[in-house]
Amino acid sequence: MPSPLLFLLVSPVLLTVATTIQPKSNIAKCLTPASNSDGAAVAIQDCASGSASQNWSVSGGNLKIFGNKCLDVPDGSTTNGKKLQIWTCASGNTNQAWTVSGNSIQWTGHSLCLDLTDGSSSNGNVVQTWSCTSGPNQQWVANTSSNPPSGLQSSLTASGVSAVYPGDSSFASASKSYNLRFTITPAAVAYPTNVQQVAAAVKAGSDNKMQVVARSGGHSYIANGLGGNSGALVIDMSKMKAITVRSSNNTALIETGNRLGDVATALNNAGRALPHGTCPYVGIGGHSGYGGFGFTSRAWGLTLDTIKSATVVLADGSVKTASSSVNTDLFWAIRGASPSIGIVTSIEVQTFAAPASATAFFYNWNNVDIATASKAISSLQTFAATNIPKELGVELVFGAGSSKGRLSLGLTGGWYGAATSLNSTIAPYLKDLPAPSSTNLNPGSYINSIKVFAGDQPLDTASAPETADTFYTKSLMTPSGSPMSSAAITAFVTYMANQGFSSDTAWFVQVELYGGSNSAINAVPLDSTAFAKRDTLFTIQFYASSSSYQPPYPSDGFSFLDGMVSSITSNSPSNWAYGAYLNYADDKLTNAANLYYGSHLDRLKSIKASVDPSNTFRMPVGV
Ligand SMILES: *[C@@H]1O[C@H](CO)[C@@H](O)[C@H](O)[C@H]1NC(C)=O
Ligand SMILES: *[C@@H]1O[C@H](CO)[C@@H](O)[C@H](O)[C@H]1NC(C)=O
Ligand SMILES: *[C@@H]1O[C@H](CO)[C@@H](O)[C@H](O)[C@H]1NC(C)=O
Ligand SMILES: *[C@@H]1O[C@H](CO)[C@@H](O)[C@H](O)[C@H]1NC(C)=O
Repeated sequence: MPSPLLFLLVSPVLLTVATTIQPKSNIAKCLTPASNSDGAAVAIQDCASGSASQNWSVSGGNLKIFGNKCLDVPDGSTTNGKKLQIWTCASGNTNQAWTVSGNSIQWTGHSLCLDLTDGSSSNGNVVQTWSCTSGPNQQWVANTSSNPPSGLQSSLTASGVSAVYPGDSSFASASKSYNLRFTITPAAVAYPTNVQQVAAAVKAGSDNKMQVVARSGGHSYIANGLGGNSGALVIDMSKMKAITVRSSNNTALIETGNRLGDVATALNNAGRALPHGTCPYVGIGGHSGYGGFGFTSRAWGLTLDTIKSATVVLADGSVKTASSSVNTDLFWAIRGASPSIGIVTSIEVQTFAAPASATAFFYNWNNVDIATASKAISSLQTFAATNIPKELGVELVFGAGSSKGRLSLGLTGGWYGAATSLNSTIAPYLKDLPAPSSTNLNPGSYINSIKVFAGDQPLDTASAPETADTFYTKSLMTPSGSPMSSAAITAFVTYMANQGFSSDTAWFVQVELYGGSNSAINAVPLDSTAFAKRDTLFTIQFYASSSSYQPPYPSDGFSFLDGMVSSITSNSPSNWAYGAYLNYADDKLTNAANLYYGSHLDRLKSIKASVDPSNTFRMPVGV
């Protein structure tokens, strides 16, 4: 058998990815089992480049090596100082479950952490578990190195595509994730300036059998704009920011390097608008590829509902136009699942007249009790069915209260009718609740409402870099025909009010109204786009950051949000047809394909097989 190194030399198309685990106090040392046998002790040794006995994979809650061995706590002993071994991986074996968060590696379900015994970095020092202290002996770095295939760089260079590679001085910033829970090392980040360069870059990647992903704003909650895992060729769209507003037919042609703040400004300058979310830094590419909800969506639909045509680069490097008359399968698939299908370089959208008046409103209640917070949800379900106007967009926002059993509650939204009629429109809902602790109504122009929702972030996203976060998110879309039961609402609110008070995360929950009377989202026939969850009353976003918004993300932050979702689902009918929203992607979701793609999964798979047979555009939670 050839040695691994020789094998790599004769197979230049293979991407080499290796992940080492090193004590932060001495990164010249790597975590190394004594052999590949069950029971081999795990010690630290000098790092040896490309060594299979130092190449761990950190995924699925295991630390795996040699393909089938896992870091293992012998006999599941919870004694401080237990020396660690490897053992054949067995699914569900809790002695092999680890949570990597920032620099700590915690035995999942225990307050014991991977510990450098006595802080010694002598070769052969066997590592142990010890009560988590966050001290220097428990700080580890997982270092993934990936060498792009040799053919990639020459192809990109030959096509004039500029790119950044590992080792380049700008690589760290080019490969930084918005969600700092993820550290990902792509093989390269390419910056094409036009469609032909996107096509050339995609072809260079697929010719080299690489994973290729597009990055629009880089906001994917699970870092899918970086590939979700190390080793991808990232096609960064930020050099493609043209926006052409056409008054002749009220369309706009928008390149997908644009972010929402810049799109809103350019359209508003021509008196036009689009439905989209409130975060100015979110890229239009992923937003319009997976959905695109905002407070105007009940009036105008999701962002993807406005797409009239698109330019799409396929895995083979071909450039296609997709619309209701050409490449209709492709047109269907990119409106709900575009990242898995191709790289959409521009979208032609239907625009709407910017409303003459827009009121961004915020009603807040401090420290409400469980009954009041439950009432806020149940009354919104009822109110939504009372022929409310499409010009009303709302969400409920929950956060921790100042004592156990209490919550902060907000009713936030946009009103796009005459400013004077907001009070009477919202009054039937407010009458079920106590008087708000504070009321903040902001009548003004449409662009003013966009600025108010952006908070302290500028709409001109070139003017300042975005602040990153360290977080985990889940979502749940409730079916219109089967609203949340009062048992589910009470269980959910009780969980937020109790566990939410003791959680060490900075969390919030948004209950967004998609449906209700006169909603344009529900009016679109289910099968006319790939977006699979039209029949939605609420989309609930569950969002928890580390308390400092910096790594590490606390391991109990995952179970905290899991518990929120299950407080609802476990109190709902077993056949409850809920879904999940891809723009709030969850890398740990079970049954993800069904929850995200629903009845459209089979057709999406078949379109994917015809346009991307080698699965070039692959990523967690993709088709
Ligand atoms: C490291 O392991 C991964 C699989 O987890 C494998 O694809 C890769 O080739 C390995 N790298 C080396 C240098 O052994
Ligand atoms: C990570 O690994 C690469 C390749 O082995 C090496 O060049 C780099 O110095 C390592 N980084 C750290 C922090 O050890
Ligand atoms: C809108 O007008 C532009 C410019 O005339 C044209 O290229 C485009 O195809 C039109 N779009 C639609 C949807 O009619
Ligand atoms: C609407 O109600 C707020 C108090 O909630 C009040 O300050 C405002 O004047 C009212 N606006 C109109 C037009 O009645």
